[in-house]
Amino acid sequence: MGLSRRRFLQRLGAVGGYGAAYSAMTTLGLMAATSAGAAPRLPANLGSGRTVLVLGGGVAGLVAAYELERAGFSVTLLEARERLGGRNWTLRGGDKVEMVGTPDQTVGFQDGVYLNAGPARIPSHHEGLLAYCRKLDVPLEVEVNSSRSAYFWAAGSNGGKPIQMRQGVNDTRGYLSELLAKALNKGALDQELSADDKARLMPFLRAYGDLDESMAFKGTERSGFSELPGAASQFGSPRTPVPFSELLANEQLRSTLFEDMLYMQATMFQPVGGMDRIVAGFERGIRSPTIRNAEVTRIRQTATGAAVTWRDRRTGVESLAQAEFLIVTLPLNILAKIDTNFAAPVKAAIANVPYDYSNKIGFESPRFWEREQIYGGISFVGGETSLVWYPSNNLHSERGMLLACYGSGPGARVFADRPLGEQMEIARSVVGRLHPGQEGLLEKGVVVNWSKIPFNFGPWPAYGGQGGQEGHLDHPSYRLLNEPQGRIYFSGAHLSQMPGWQEGAVLSAHRTIGFIAERASQTTASTGRRSAPAA
Ligand code: ALA
Repeated sequence: MGLSRRRFLQRLGAVGGYGAAYSAMTTLGLMAATSAGAAPRLPANLGSGRTVLVLGGGVAGLVAAYELERAGFSVTLLEARERLGGRNWTLRGGDKVEMVGTPDQTVGFQDGVYLNAGPARIPSHHEGLLAYCRKLDVPLEVEVNSSRSAYFWAAGSNGGKPIQMRQGVNDTRGYLSELLAKALNKGALDQELSADDKARLMPFLRAYGDLDESMAFKGTERSGFSELPGAASQFGSPRTPVPFSELLANEQLRSTLFEDMLYMQATMFQPVGGMDRIVAGFERGIRSPTIRNAEVTRIRQTATGAAVTWRDRRTGVESLAQAEFLIVTLPLNILAKIDTNFAAPVKAAIANVPYDYSNKIGFESPRFWEREQIYGGISFVGGETSLVWYPSNNLHSERGMLLACYGSGPGARVFADRPLGEQMEIARSVVGRLHPGQEGLLEKGVVVNWSKIPFNFGPWPAYGGQGGQEGHLDHPSYRLLNEPQGRIYFSGAHLSQMPGWQEGAVLSAHRTIGFIAERASQTTASTGRRSAPAA
């Protein structure tokens, strides 16, 4: 007889600690995996008499400050910008976009229209971030991440006409089901399937692909009507299927799978009123000093912790801040340019990580897309602008923000080199391909090229090469920087498996807090000092 499940877990708990027991319990389905996003619970007096300096007021820095001050640490946060939030940045009428090498832009949107220049969606499994939305009273609404009424478009396919998502998805499924049924009928899969499974698969395939009695795909209402059914004898006219070869030749056919990626699956969320409502929530919750316009110029590891020199960007005055613990959330490409006394391999690791490119272009516009039954969701167009993303908020109001470009990677690099006016005109003309004649309605364009945004110069690291895939990041630099360096801790989404998600920032900050808590519980408090003007 084996051990009872409970006994087994108790033993595991004794041997592997809480972490091992916890992960075994989730594996066995005894505990919801969602609580993995929870912050480490720290004793309220753990930090009493201890100082922490946090560099960077993005989501990781805010989480660290919020949690550590609740555990009694004396926290100071330095932020180089006038605003907190880092990449969590919402643009509204009157806001300025400053980018290196281009003229400043002033956003002209009317009230209620906004552009989430950075993060713009939250998956429902990003429980760490969602827990803060709950805790900080940040109201959420559904972010409609896919619409079957939206389109995909590729040059040279379907006579240059966009294909509606519902047609791409369901025609493709129909053709594939028919092919598989043919193969089954020919006995081509008799080695792979038992007679029973084959007999069960046939009716499933018929339903899956909406095939006729002869197991042929002749089109499906799932792909839409060309004439909608109505009252009395107004029957619906079926849409002619897009030929399979046209679908296969369409470079954007794969975009029909976008909504099935784990990170993109319904239900997704956005804060009501803009992503920066999360930042506002942290601002309400954090009592510690958050010093803005504080540009870090020098970092020194010291015998008692760390010393940081920072410059007030408005006055030019330099100050010195010292603390027992230092959390550095600055993007690695920014950190690489700061004078530090980090060990040579750490410096090399920081310098080693290239950053990606990413662009967004938003326009204010009357909601013409809603007259095409598009409510939220995305049309995919490939090329330098990638996609057109429709707003999920304020449906049926008069105007909204249409995201006419959101591209990352090498194409985005080329695109960002173009003058702003040219970027806007390319994005506008792509909207015209999807919605002929409507492109002239787009107004008040605003371009965000993250590679040109001061204090970021890139959206996220492009770890690239081996182990560069989100969820599977593994790289010697990444590993090294994820380890504490004395009492200096690097933290942020760039040190998580989700460099382009706020959840990555939350989870990395939680890990850092865990390190500091461990160290603090092992040692007695030293007399770290708070921020003070340099002598
Ligand atoms: N997380 C980013 C997005 O949603 C990359 O597009």
